[in-house]
Amino acid sequence: APTAPTAERQGEPQVIAHRGASAYAPENTLAAVDLADDMGFTWVENDVQRTRDGALIVVHDETLARTTDVEQRFPERAPWRVRDFSAAEIATLDAGSWFGKEWAGLRVPTLRQYLNRVDRNDQKLLLEIKRPELYPAIEKETLDVLRQEGWLDRSHIKGRLVMQNFSADSVRAVHRQRPDVITGFLGTPPVADLPAYASFTDQINPAASSITADYVAAVHRLKGAHGKRLRVNTWTVNDAATAVRMSEFGVDGIITDRPDVVRDAVG
Ligand code: G3P
Ligand code: CA
Repeated sequence: APTAPTAERQGEPQVIAHRGASAYAPENTLAAVDLADDMGFTWVENDVQRTRDGALIVVHDETLARTTDVEQRFPERAPWRVRDFSAAEIATLDAGSWFGKEWAGLRVPTLRQYLNRVDRNDQKLLLEIKRPELYPAIEKETLDVLRQEGWLDRSHIKGRLVMQNFSADSVRAVHRQRPDVITGFLGTPPVADLPAYASFTDQINPAASSITADYVAAVHRLKGAHGKRLRVNTWTVNDAATAVRMSEFGVDGIITDRPDVVRDAVG
């Protein structure tokens, strides 16, 4: 990608609610999306995986054990991998009680349900395909659902959807299949490798502990796959001091379980 003149971030970093407002509501549920909306946050992040029968659902861990009651419901099915359960089975699980009894009865949303809720709230989505190496062709299937739900219309693509993950091959696959979709790579590639990444992605989204101001500046000197300055969204920043440091580094976005804390610190 061509080198762009160094450009400062305009304004404060975008605050992105990680798995929804996940410090305050069960992660990756519709309630966590709604709470982020109620708190005034437009951007939410989520994690997409696939069931045994091919449905796309929103859940972070490779197993259902931490964030649902699957162990009690299906004691004989250890280790409770997402990909070993059908969508119908997962739809019966309680995805709220682990977080607090007031959240009992929440469900693991399907990707369709999740997209419709984000849409209804007029929010924006940083969608992570989680562990794509476990789910061959999940890029195409995710894009198919997005298209069927209207998310690949021009108005959505323009500024409302970013697709990211930790696998360069998977980000490249998304970019190849739908070159109009904005993409992000999760990780911290060496500076020397950044131009190669910039050929297929628009964002470099690194762990906060892995970056310096110089690294952010090096990313910002490049143009991404759509010809705009390569952006940096860093994760997962849940305290004010780190949020201020990241803002001073010049990051474009901060992904956080505590969006209110980050907004108060840098907003
Ligand atoms: O969006 C960044 C962050 O979500 C990546 O890590 O493990 O929380 O999905 P993880
Ligand atoms: Ca994630």
